[in-house]
Amino acid sequence: MNSTKNTTNEIHFGRPLIGEAERAAVMDVLAGPVLAHGPRGKQFEADFAAWTGAPEAISVSNCTAGLHLVWFALGIGPGDEVIVPTVTHTATAHAVELTGARAVFADIDRATGNIDPAAVEAALTPRTRGISVVHFLGLPANMTRINAIAQKHNLFVLEDCALAVGTRFDGVHAGLIGGAGVFSFYPVKHMTTAEGGMIVTRDAALARKLRLAKAFGVDRGVEERTVPGIYDVVSLGFNYRMNEMAAALGIVQLKRMDGFLNTRRANAAALGKALDAIDGLHRLDVGDAKRVHSHYCTSVVLPDDVAGKRAEVALAMKAQAVGTSVYYPGPVPHLTYYREKYGYRRGQFPAGEWFSGGTLALPCAPHLDTNDMARVGAALTTAIKEVRK
Ligand SMILES: Cc1ncc(COP(=O)(O)O)c(C=O)c1O
Repeated sequence: MNSTKNTTNEIHFGRPLIGEAERAAVMDVLAGPVLAHGPRGKQFEADFAAWTGAPEAISVSNCTAGLHLVWFALGIGPGDEVIVPTVTHTATAHAVELTGARAVFADIDRATGNIDPAAVEAALTPRTRGISVVHFLGLPANMTRINAIAQKHNLFVLEDCALAVGTRFDGVHAGLIGGAGVFSFYPVKHMTTAEGGMIVTRDAALARKLRLAKAFGVDRGVEERTVPGIYDVVSLGFNYRMNEMAAALGIVQLKRMDGFLNTRRANAAALGKALDAIDGLHRLDVGDAKRVHSHYCTSVVLPDDVAGKRAEVALAMKAQAVGTSVYYPGPVPHLTYYREKYGYRRGQFPAGEWFSGGTLALPCAPHLDTNDMARVGAALTTAIKEVRK
């Protein structure tokens, strides 16, 4: 039985799907003495590596920590620049700034929501060391162009895969197309460990550094210590480890991922059909066989005449018991911290401003079914009509 089954008529934007197997796995951890850096963490890493095809998978406490850890391990720091998209979670930019480097914003492509390769080229300077792409809502970025730019200028490509479990580009799972990728297992993501993340890479030397730096730079794990408590520290590091309860959740959730993805696909297709009837709605590219979308949600940009009244549209949908969200609430350079730090002004990122200003995220996650999708489409139709009155 699913604890998240709706007892009301409400359609939530996102809900974790936690069942008996997840609860039993967590209770099993709690019945024993090993709550951190134990066998479940290793098992979850091996399972995730097998599921994505990653040579290396490194569990972390959350996606933001993983992104920071990668830039840190690469030695990115003061004086360096990393190019990030304007429309993303602030974590993509913060992960760069936490190292002392500067996050330089490149605008998005209006058709996909992904970073625009032409804008990346325009943002290059002699200080650029990397590019952080975000596979926006699960649609892969144009990795052919991004990798070509990176190769030409000797840059590291970090894929922010927070919304990209199940995303593939040319048959390759997200995170393995650039230099490394980091996933998020926050409660409403494709799968959850409550809080958690996973780094994947093909680079064994980088993986070694990441494993060291995620645990204080300590040279040996608990099980490798001949005398308990005796170890050396060989690098600077953090405590960015995933605990055993989170890993136990992840092991079970990963087994359900194929089913989750099938439901997301069916829901997104049904919702797409329901939205066809709405005039003037701006829709995003849904991918194709080469660019496999993992459908975190279905984001639209409201018709031009109601885009400025998004809050009213969202509230009119809420009144019909349909939840929505916004991904993301502003181009990151316009959020107070970045605006005040770097003095960004309106008009500098027109695509990001247009998108963030009028976008609304509609639910299509696997706590819902295709009948719910018809209700989401109808609720948006009604909401737009009401706001136009
Ligand atoms: C694109 C993106 N990157 C990073 C994050 C941060 O993930 P976490 O909460 O696991 O640190 C999010 C969270 O929603 C996100 O959407």
